[in-house]
Amino acid sequence: MSVTIKPREKFNHHTRDLRPTILNMPKIDLHRHLEGSLRLTTLAEIAHEHGVDLPSMSPEELRPLVQVVADDTPNFHNFLAKFKLLRRFYSSREAVERIAYEAVADAAHDNIKYLELRFNPVALALNQGFNFEDVADWVIEATEEAQRDHEIQVRLIVQIGRHEPQYARQLAEIAVDRQDNGIVGLDLAGDEINFPVTKFVDVFQWARKKGLHVTIHAAEAGPAVNIKEAIDKLGAERIGHGIRAREDIAIMDLLNRKQIPLEICPTSNLQTGMIPKLAQHPIYAFYQLGIPVTVNTDDPSISNTTLTDEFLMASGGAGVPFKDLCKMIIYAAQAAFLPETEKSALVEWFQVKLKKYVSEPH
Ligand code: ADE
Ligand code: ZN
Repeated sequence: MSVTIKPREKFNHHTRDLRPTILNMPKIDLHRHLEGSLRLTTLAEIAHEHGVDLPSMSPEELRPLVQVVADDTPNFHNFLAKFKLLRRFYSSREAVERIAYEAVADAAHDNIKYLELRFNPVALALNQGFNFEDVADWVIEATEEAQRDHEIQVRLIVQIGRHEPQYARQLAEIAVDRQDNGIVGLDLAGDEINFPVTKFVDVFQWARKKGLHVTIHAAEAGPAVNIKEAIDKLGAERIGHGIRAREDIAIMDLLNRKQIPLEICPTSNLQTGMIPKLAQHPIYAFYQLGIPVTVNTDDPSISNTTLTDEFLMASGGAGVPFKDLCKMIIYAAQAAFLPETEKSALVEWFQVKLKKYVSEPH
């Protein structure tokens, strides 16, 4: 089956009409990876400037290496493989700062007003032998500068890779030490099929005690019960994807009872092969059960998508009515990793701004 999702071509009449409205609406992205947010043009320029050792140099030649394209089989490990080559591009402090700045600028241009951007210091540092602390500080500085230049509020989440447990403690310490500089949480991502959470339990428990928030990629590719494990053992307050909860009524009930928000990323779910067809996506079923679902991008450049596209996917392909898309933005505000007073202000701001969209017919 061909995987590439080309939103602008594939949407039907109904969704095409919604594009300008959804683009203009203020939005929230809670699940976006910095390492999946690199502009192809920037990659090509970095390759030229720094002599990155690559099989090809032009944006179009680079595309199939770093982006999911039509010929790719939808498959979880094929999807994750795109991140490996990208590690070669973090070739200098300037490259890391540019990539982080542009990730925020691109979100702002899509009218995202609140962004939680996650990044893995190991991915950014290892190829050049940078300090993890240094790259974290570069990301903090670049995203601060981007916030000064754009109308967007950004918070950062440090991401730990499941296949790299040896770095978990150090990364958690980096995050804990930078809570006054915009780092609000910890995430566990990567290969959920081959790497269990066992080696991460102590680190996440410690980080929670130190005041960090926790979100975990769970039941994206692994079984539904991984959600329960993420909540009980790692202290997850939100779940990345969680789509395989649909296979287990007890887990859906758990998410509903505890009101654990799901960070849903429709295009990513198709490209990883975890959802065969958009019409089969459980986003609306979860919503109707009372689970607070949110709409996010995951990896905009790897998936060649924007948050506007993801809302159109949820609307057109997955059947979410427009007013419920607005409610999902409010769910996202309520799930933000912010102190209560700041969160209440964010929720209220979005309620006011979205009112006119809900009251107008769409
Ligand atoms: N890192 C970036 N995208 C991811 C995904 N969809 N699943 C796990 N780890 C990831
Ligand atoms: Zn993710």
